[in-house]
Amino acid sequence: MKIIMLGAPGAGKGTQAKLIAKKYAIPHISTGDIFRENIKNGTDLGKLAKGYMDRGELVPDEVVVKLVVDRIKADDCADGFILDGFPRTIPQAESLTEALAREKMVLDYAIDVEVPDEVIIKRISGRRACTQCAAIYHVDFQPPKREGICDTDGSELVLRNDDKPETVLKRLNVYHAQTQPLIDYYKKEEILFAVDGTRSTDDVFSEIEEHLGD
Ligand code: AP5
Repeated sequence: MKIIMLGAPGAGKGTQAKLIAKKYAIPHISTGDIFRENIKNGTDLGKLAKGYMDRGELVPDEVVVKLVVDRIKADDCADGFILDGFPRTIPQAESLTEALAREKMVLDYAIDVEVPDEVIIKRISGRRACTQCAAIYHVDFQPPKREGICDTDGSELVLRNDDKPETVLKRLNVYHAQTQPLIDYYKKEEILFAVDGTRSTDDVFSEIEEHLGD
């Protein structure tokens, strides 16, 4: 099963992508997580991405496209994958379609998690992320068992660098200008499935499961 997740920053793409990846046993590929891991490790890619991310801007298409096209050729993607945070621009979507076509593959689903901007701002301000395993929590909606500590590996939970209010507004503007047009792109491809992301995590996941089947 080959899936992409669409939706504004903080809509719950990562939360749902992790659940989908577990249920359908496919790799969860988050471009944001890959960049954050590279920033943590001080790689050249991390140094390049950091400035864009801290400003709430997109990393240039050519950098992200190469990264993803290489990643989906790996053996663990042979039976499918879920892309979270990619594509984010029309050129990225076109590059993905072309890369898959070269391997005689197509996407099966584009899942759009719909959440209005005012709910997004509340979600992002309460989000906490594990510094080690990238697990996601929310201080009100999905709190860890011990405040500030990851349930999975006991590491510290932090507010992401790009989750400061001014950067979130910039990210939302970038989303509306550059990523939202992908909804029409995948509607035309007849693979778009829109889900109301304002409900509980479990309710959103149940609707996605129903659509994807067993
Ligand atoms: P990325 O990491 O992809 O960030 P994003 O798209 O802005 O998405 P988020 O991770 O902020 O949110 P999410 O939708 O995954 O929500 P989550 O599940 O965490 O990208 C970061 C940056 O990297 C970009 O700005 C860009 O610079 C760069 N980048 C990445 N990909 C790129 C690309 N393709 N091209 C160019 N640049 C790229 O949920 C949010 C919060 O809400 C959590 O606290 C969660 O616990 C809570 N929550 C989730 N679901 C629910 C629910 N149903 N009810 C209540 N709370 C919920």
